[in-house]
Amino acid sequence: MSKELIRLRDLCMAYDDELVLDHLNLYINDKEFLTLLGPSGCGKTTTLRIIGGFTTPTSGDVLFDGVRINDVPPYRRQINTVFQKYALFPHLNVFENVAFGLRMPRVEEQRDENGKVVSRRKVKVPEEEIRQRVLEMLETVSLKGFENRKPDALSGGQQQRVAIARALVNRPKVLLLDEPLGALDLKLRKDMQIELKRIQQQVGITFIYVTHDQEEALTMSDTIVVMDKGTIQQIGTPEDIYNEPKNAFVADFIGESNIIDGVMVRDRVVKMYGREFACLDGGFAENEPVDVVIRPEDIDIVPPEEGQLVGTVTNVTFKGMQYDIIVDFKGFKWLIQTTDHSPEGRHIGVKIDPDGFHIMKKSQYSGMFGDYSSYSEEYEELSDADALDEEDDGEAARREDGYAE
Ligand SMILES: Nc1ncnc2c1ncn2[C@@H]1O[C@H](COP(=O)(O)OP(=O)(O)O)[C@@H](O)[C@H]1O
Ligand SMILES: [Mg+2]
Repeated sequence: MSKELIRLRDLCMAYDDELVLDHLNLYINDKEFLTLLGPSGCGKTTTLRIIGGFTTPTSGDVLFDGVRINDVPPYRRQINTVFQKYALFPHLNVFENVAFGLRMPRVEEQRDENGKVVSRRKVKVPEEEIRQRVLEMLETVSLKGFENRKPDALSGGQQQRVAIARALVNRPKVLLLDEPLGALDLKLRKDMQIELKRIQQQVGITFIYVTHDQEEALTMSDTIVVMDKGTIQQIGTPEDIYNEPKNAFVADFIGESNIIDGVMVRDRVVKMYGREFACLDGGFAENEPVDVVIRPEDIDIVPPEEGQLVGTVTNVTFKGMQYDIIVDFKGFKWLIQTTDHSPEGRHIGVKIDPDGFHIMKKSQYSGMFGDYSSYSEEYEELSDADALDEEDDGEAARREDGYAE
């Protein structure tokens, strides 16, 4: 059974008059990989800094193992942090960079039964133990044999591993990571995502990870906390968040979603575009207005006469694995991902199985997301540019024709 390790209780943070964290409530289990996910400015870093003890919340509590730690300074918390800018000491080699945390003298306090400090003494980790722990940690982050390298002789990914080893060598119970892969290129970032997950499982501690990259969150997390404007929108496993988004914000932020205005006629029947569709959802009031999510990969293209709906293809983009096509249904544009090629201008029918619908309650985000018109305009601009190029080519071709004569 997983055990609760950290709890944020009614956490608020205000700067001047602006509330940047608005009554956050969250628990984090021991050995869990939990990700705070949301757009820039939603309060992820602030939350992490409060957990680390670098920022004091305006109100609310941080509990660690059931004990309130609001007033405990960072170095007394069993929590370490890896920042995006991982500032290694350039003059120290990899071994000494990692050993640094262990060489700092720690003050051990003896307390009496009232919690009053009665004596303090400095303790040092013995040199042989430092050696063992550093080498073990370098092995964990796959940097065995790099002990004598200086940071500037390492790649970005390797430097990041050193920063992680340095943060883990003190054996914290929790590691905080604030967009640690932000500076790496895409390929390396993907490799490091898998690596970080492996490291977390190997050392068996809690990771609290911050990112604005939904794919990164889906890849690594046991639990995702989706945030917007200082509030939690949804907490769940990656599957929960993807398959059962709570509102239009979450549905739009995680993956691609067509979000259509609908009415829940009765259990398992939803109406949109004036037509009834079978779905699997229930528990809404009769004729309750709802937001209907249809993922681009859950839509089948069929001949118009077999379609539940008929629309017109307005854009086609080849994506390697599939085509992204934009289809206009009465002025509302959907994104459909398909392996079948349907050229621009074609009338197509679509079919959606009952499990392809996800029905959400109306929210403050209704109507703000899920129409691909603007996406389509971007592509139209791009294809207009292509058309201009083609005209140029045509002109050149005519001139060549002229020369041939
Ligand atoms: N020290 C500060 N002073 C004033 N405003 C701040 C400070 N730190 C963060 N903020 C504001 O708090 C909000 C949340 O910021 P942050 O937690 O850094 O978001 P995120 O990490 O999700 O991008 C932003 O509007 C930001 O401008
Ligand atoms: Mg941030």
